Amino acid sequence: MSVKFPRKTWQDVDLVGKTVLVRVDYNVPLRDGKIEDDFRIVATLPMLRKLVEKKCRVVLISHLGRPEGFDESLSLRPVAERLSELLGRVVGFVPDCVGDKVKTAVKKMSVGEILLLENLRFYSEEETNDMDFAKQLAKSALAKIFIQNGYGVVHRAHASTDAITNFTPSVAGPLVVEEWLNIQKAIENPNRPLVAVLGGAKIADKLPLIERIVEISDKVVLGGAVANNFLMSLGFSVGASLWNPEIDQQTDKIISLAKKKFGANWKQFFIVPVDVAVSKNGNPDGARHVVARAAVGANNAIFDVGTKSINRATEAITAAGTVIWNGTFGVADKPNFAHASSRIALTLANNPQIYSLVCGGDTVDFVRGWDNLKGGSFSYLSTGGGAALNQIAGKKLYGIDSLLC
Ligand code: 3PG
Repeated sequence: MSVKFPRKTWQDVDLVGKTVLVRVDYNVPLRDGKIEDDFRIVATLPMLRKLVEKKCRVVLISHLGRPEGFDESLSLRPVAERLSELLGRVVGFVPDCVGDKVKTAVKKMSVGEILLLENLRFYSEEETNDMDFAKQLAKSALAKIFIQNGYGVVHRAHASTDAITNFTPSVAGPLVVEEWLNIQKAIENPNRPLVAVLGGAKIADKLPLIERIVEISDKVVLGGAVANNFLMSLGFSVGASLWNPEIDQQTDKIISLAKKKFGANWKQFFIVPVDVAVSKNGNPDGARHVVARAAVGANNAIFDVGTKSINRATEAITAAGTVIWNGTFGVADKPNFAHASSRIALTLANNPQIYSLVCGGDTVDFVRGWDNLKGGSFSYLSTGGGAALNQIAGKKLYGIDSLLC
C-alpha cells in the first residue's frame, strides 16, 4: 500500500528568488547557553542549502522551550551561531520575531541569505494561535510563501503552525513530508508484533494518546514519569516522584481499556513497572536503589525502572517486529538512572530485524549519545515527540491540516 502526503509541498510551488518564511523546530537541549545536541538543526540543512541554491531569502522561525515572556536563557541566538558553523555561511539573527526590527533586517537581505528570528514563545500570542500575531509574523518577514518544516510542532495549534496559513500560501517542507511518511508507513502496515515503548516526563501531553496506542499496539511497555501515574492508579505510592494528579481518571480509563483488549492476562501486554530505581533523598545525583514498586518511601523519587522491569521490557522488544519508542525511561542523563534506556537502546541496536522508530527530542538525543553510529543503529529517528504520538494516535495535526491542499 503506498502512502501519500496529504497536502501541497515545497516541490509543488515555484520558490526561485522568493522571500520564504520557514517554521522549523529548533527546540534543542541547551545547557548553560550551549547546544547539547544539534540533531534538529542538522535535519534542516538539506532544505536550507536547496533554498539558497534557489536564490531565496530565507527567514526562519522557531520556538525554544516553554518560556513565560522574554527569557534570555531561551534565546535562539546560539542556534544562529551553530547554523552558521554548520552551513559555513553567516546566518543572521534578529532579537525579535515581529515588528520593525524584523522588517528592516529582511529588507537588507541579499538573495541566498538566511536569517533566524528570536523565540516565538516570547509572545504569549504564539501559543494562543492569535490571528493578529500570525499576520504580523507573515508581514514582518515580507513572506511570499510559508514553508512548514517543523515536524516536531505540527500537533500544536499555534500562530506559527496554524493561524499563519491564513496570511501566506503555505506548503510542507521536506522534513515534515519525510517524517510524516515514515511514521505513517510504520503504523499503517507494521511488521507485527507492534510494541509501543512509552516513557518521558510530559505526562499531560502523552496520556490522552495512550488510549489509541493501546488500540493499535500488540504490547505497550511503560516507564519514565508517565508510568508513575499508572502506578498511582494501581494503588502504589510513588513517594516524591513526578506524577500528575489532574489526569488520574484518564489512567483508570486506559487500564480498563487494556483489560478489555488483552483480557485476564492484560498485565503481560500492558506492562507497568514491577520494580523501580529510586534516589532515597529525591536527588537525581544520588545513588541508585532498586526497590519493589510497593516499597517506595515517602522521600524516594523514582528515576528509572528496576532490574525486573528492564528484563520484561527487553523481552517484549526482542519479540517485536516493530517498536515505536517515545520517552526515555529514567533520568537518562544521569548514569545511575540511565540503565533502562540504555538496555532498550542496546536491545534495538542488537536486533536490526526490528523496525525501530525512535521519536522525541530527549529520546533521540539519548540514543544518539549512546550510539557509536550517532543513531545509525536504529531504523528511523524522528525529530517529533508529541507530534509523532499525535500522528500515531490519529489526532489532528494542525500544522499539516492548515496547509494548501
Ligand atoms: C517538542 O520538543 O516535542 C516540540 O518542540 C514541541 O515542544 P512543546 O511540547 O513545548 O510544544
